[in-house]
Amino acid sequence: MKRALLISCLLLTGCGQNMTDQPKNQQYEPSALFRDGKSLLAPVAGTVAREDVAHDQATTHKPRLTAALLARGHQQFDVFCSPCHARTGEGNGMVVQRGMPSPPSYHIDRLRSADDQHFFDVITNGYGAMYPYAARVAPRDRWAIVAYIRALQLSQNAKLDDVPEQERAKLLAEAPP
Ligand code: HEC
Repeated sequence: MKRALLISCLLLTGCGQNMTDQPKNQQYEPSALFRDGKSLLAPVAGTVAREDVAHDQATTHKPRLTAALLARGHQQFDVFCSPCHARTGEGNGMVVQRGMPSPPSYHIDRLRSADDQHFFDVITNGYGAMYPYAARVAPRDRWAIVAYIRALQLSQNAKLDDVPEQERAKLLAEAPP
């Protein structure tokens, strides 16, 4: 009788086991298996994860300015930044109109004279009330957005002399009286 009970107990517990509670070490549990007594093993000194090298390169190497890069920056800016910063960079985007603290305009002197790296770092790490975008915007796209912000800044602070001569007449014709 005792034996039958034991067997049925074993059978019952055996059937109830699933992958989530199978015998295994949790990350921070001690383990007798390894010399340092830990379950979670530290990577060997100098280990480089496969994606790290490419990621670091994209982070530190500003891509060459091309029309394609600007177009990509325009598209990514409109997706990720314009909800708060507005499509013009003035800082009165739709989310701000609904209660988000207002970011500074990109057209103030301080941000006009800030270097590209500052914009890249703000996207990567966030800034004050603005949260980081590193998880959503890849390093190359961050540089593309920075290039587009430079174009936006120029668009709001250019002189007629900055426009190639053949384009000036067109601009003047389109300008409101
Ligand atoms: C959800 C709203 C929101 C979005 C989306 C957003 N920002 Fe911001 N951003 C802010 C706010 C708010 C501030 C001001 C933060 C503060 O000073 O506390 C700010 C500040 C900034 C600044 C100014 C930093 C300084 O030196 O004063 C830059 C540059 C900037 N954001 C760039 C970006 C870029 C580029 C994107 C898109 C990748 C972006 N932001 C997306 C809300 C946003």
